Amino acid sequence: MTTAGSNLPRRLLAIETSCDETAAAVVDENLRVLSNVVASQTGLHKRFGGVVPEVASRAHVDHILPVIEQALSEAGTRLDDLAAVAVVTHPGLVGSLLVGLTAAKTLALLLDKPLIPVNHIEAHLFACRMHAERDVFPAIGLVVSGGHCNLYDCQGGRAYELLGSTIDDAVGEAFDKVASMLGLSYPGGPSIQKSAESGNRKRFKFPRSFERDRDRLEFSFSGLKTSVLYEIAGKPPRDYDPKTLDPQYVADIAASFQEAAIDVLVTKSRQALAARGRSTLCVGGGVAANARLRERLAAAARDDRFELILAPMAMCTDNAAMSAIAWELLAAGQTAGLDVDVTSGLVRRKPAGK
Ligand code: KG4
Ligand code: ZN
Repeated sequence: MTTAGSNLPRRLLAIETSCDETAAAVVDENLRVLSNVVASQTGLHKRFGGVVPEVASRAHVDHILPVIEQALSEAGTRLDDLAAVAVVTHPGLVGSLLVGLTAAKTLALLLDKPLIPVNHIEAHLFACRMHAERDVFPAIGLVVSGGHCNLYDCQGGRAYELLGSTIDDAVGEAFDKVASMLGLSYPGGPSIQKSAESGNRKRFKFPRSFERDRDRLEFSFSGLKTSVLYEIAGKPPRDYDPKTLDPQYVADIAASFQEAAIDVLVTKSRQALAARGRSTLCVGGGVAANARLRERLAAAARDDRFELILAPMAMCTDNAAMSAIAWELLAAGQTAGLDVDVTSGLVRRKPAGK
């Protein structure tokens, strides 16, 4: 099928405002990304060491229209050329999600085009599908981000079974908190990764939760975070100024923490692959951008002979291009009316018959 009056493949506009990135992308029906614009708010949240929901939703209001305009202009696409409007409706921060949804509803109404609600977690995994340029399921799916740390059995089509998730903090949140303890900049993931490059990952033995418990496909990072705090500040923790920490000590903690977190992610992925007899692992989310995690997963894939499909770097942290899963939703008739709402939590999708 083509865009009306032309031979071009149809195009959709995707909008993403689930957390602290205002993003819009134009993707055609062959999953070619024509533009992928992300306005990051990290500068605004930096001094708080984490995302402040109220600040995030206000910034989305400021950014949403320029970001959409830029996405359309970079893709050489007029509003009239669009076949549909996709928008992330869950999970995420309600106030933030509402900004994107309101923009998407307005455009869909004005243009009289289908409105397609997208699940943010599913979109993170779809980034792997876009990278592979083919169907990648059945597979084990690992989503590792600032808000989520989930393992799925992706059975094919849109049947996902949640095998386990974190019982406390998401792994990206642990990176952000440990970075703040070390006086490293926000977001913590990239700064821990950078500092760890010159650190000794064996210097500190931090805990690896549930590592030996093969049947427990869950994560916990709060004990790891607390161990790091006790190492830096003593037990009970005393007040300290992160600026006074020795740079080599900081690098060694960063490297040892990163290794502990990654050990758990790699081990649980392997256990999930074995438990479900799958031979493909798909990994998405902001933490999937971590170079050491990518290296360790690649080594595990060679050792255990599974196929590893990582989200491409440009589609690890939040972006709208990965919402191109909307093409599949559109084909399945999964569009929404103007009464569709946002939800903060994860909508668990069980496979048919379970
Ligand atoms: O997927 P994302 O952009 O937002 C959520 O859906 O939560 O993930 C953001 C998270 C942050 O916690 C950030 O510190 C982490 O991803 N992150 C990383 C790296 N780049 C981003 N964590 C580890 N290493 C990285 N290179
Ligand atoms: Zn995300």
